[in-house]
Amino acid sequence: MSGLHIALIGPRGSGKSSTAVQLAGETGLPLSETDTMIEEREGQSVSGIFESMGEQRFREIESEVLEAVLSMPRRIISTGGGIVMNPGNRKLLSERTFSVYLRANPLALFRRIASDPASGKSRPPLTGLDPFQEMEVIAKMRDPLYRECAKLLLDTTRMKPPEVCRRILQELGER
Ligand code: S3P
Repeated sequence: MSGLHIALIGPRGSGKSSTAVQLAGETGLPLSETDTMIEEREGQSVSGIFESMGEQRFREIESEVLEAVLSMPRRIISTGGGIVMNPGNRKLLSERTFSVYLRANPLALFRRIASDPASGKSRPPLTGLDPFQEMEVIAKMRDPLYRECAKLLLDTTRMKPPEVCRRILQELGER
């Protein structure tokens, strides 16, 4: 198994958080979520940070938190969906993690987000579009950015976190 951190990247609703919990349980590695680290550091929710400081400041803090988490002992890292927008973050993820891109079709993403009670706190709107359109546009726009960083791509549209976790560990075992 590689000694790199295992990072989960992909759009909102792709299953990063639940897969990360599963992976941490299976591997015994500690788990860090960049959004949670940001919230703890700033003492407010992601939505609160977007409102009070704006998305650009959120992105700066996100990059600082990514650097910080990468310098910790090897772990499972669940990232925010927009982390790949920054080229420096993409470089770090490519070089210092085994990044797994979790993708899913936009309808599945939309349904999962709509049914997640934590969405209001952690998922401020990113465009002026309606939520489904936003999901479609953002997932398409970021797809090449996730691919640029990923060492493994898994389509989670019809896969539950335990299966996603099993596939990741299988892949790592083969390396
Ligand atoms: C964002 C995704 C969120 C969070 C913030 C911005 C994005 O994380 O970082 O709301 O730009 O897609 P999740 O992917 O965990 O929802």
